[in-house]
Amino acid sequence: MTLQAIKWQDNQLYVLDQLLLPLESQYINVRDVKDGWQVISKMQVRGAPAIAIVGCLSLAVELINTSFEDKDELLDTINKKLDYLVTARPTAVNLQKAAEELKAISKKLYEDNLSVEDMVKLVSSWCQKMLDDDINTNKKIGWFGAESILKSAGGRNVQLLTHCNTGSLATAGYGTALGVIRSIHEQGRLAQAYCTETRPYNQGARLTAYELVFEKMPATLICDSMAAALMNCRKIDAVLVGADRVIRNGDTANKIGTYQLAVTAKCHKVPFYVCAPTTSIDLNLGEGKDIPIEERPCEEMTDIAGIRIASPGISCWNPAFDVTPAELITGGIVTELGVFKPSELHTILQAQ
Ligand code: MRU
Repeated sequence: MTLQAIKWQDNQLYVLDQLLLPLESQYINVRDVKDGWQVISKMQVRGAPAIAIVGCLSLAVELINTSFEDKDELLDTINKKLDYLVTARPTAVNLQKAAEELKAISKKLYEDNLSVEDMVKLVSSWCQKMLDDDINTNKKIGWFGAESILKSAGGRNVQLLTHCNTGSLATAGYGTALGVIRSIHEQGRLAQAYCTETRPYNQGARLTAYELVFEKMPATLICDSMAAALMNCRKIDAVLVGADRVIRNGDTANKIGTYQLAVTAKCHKVPFYVCAPTTSIDLNLGEGKDIPIEERPCEEMTDIAGIRIASPGISCWNPAFDVTPAELITGGIVTELGVFKPSELHTILQAQ
């Protein structure tokens, strides 16, 4: 059994409340798009692929439980609800891409003269299929990433460093960067996984550490400020991170702190990998500075579990993500299609 962040059962959607982990495992029943927006915005579910899946499934639940006058009303509702959902968190592109695809599919069904009932059925099955598709994609990412890292290790077992949470909790299951670590572990080749605490919101300490312990992988937690010392003192074979948005030139937005890890990795000649499904790739943007970076409430930085730890009165800057320039992604970008240099992405994706 693995951890399951998202459950779809009898046309009902349940989301594991990640703000309560690791101390409590409690599922929230997401009954409509408003609930979906809330759980995403409050980060009760988080991670780019999971955000997209929960957003779309919250629409599916709402459509299944609503009566529509006619298909005009249905199409209008689908478009409006999707426009609302994508405002929940702006940096991860997966939900935005899924919303565009779902709008195009709904328009096609409308034009093909399907009944309201059939449109609802097909739209909601498309959303449900995202769960299986994501797991299959992640397993391929795991396999390609493991192959690339183990090839350079020449028979040695490897020590890896990862940031934030990119595992079962951030996806439908298996994970992206953590999926690669999982795959290496399954092949008996993981000597040690190091995970950062991931300040300010501690997804590493709360969630990745929990997943690594749950899966019985050899693992060690470090504070974010220990990464350079770790690379200096212990052999690290690769740094692996996920992505919220990879753009045309390979520049990558991911959890705040990713950029400094990439700079540090370059300095220590440690290969730096971004592991992400092609649903995280946004070919419309050409430069990292164009990626919208979400800023989160200061309390996520100044308080821990509701207890103030920062001096009262201090002002704060809390960007949730940073952008790693493509030239620092030295290991490659691991996708379900293979491992590519950032400069190759554009051509590979356009050939699909
Ligand atoms: O703010 P979060 O927790 O949603 O940020 C998550 C990350 O930055 C992940 O690395 C990214 O979404 C990829 S998850 C497979």
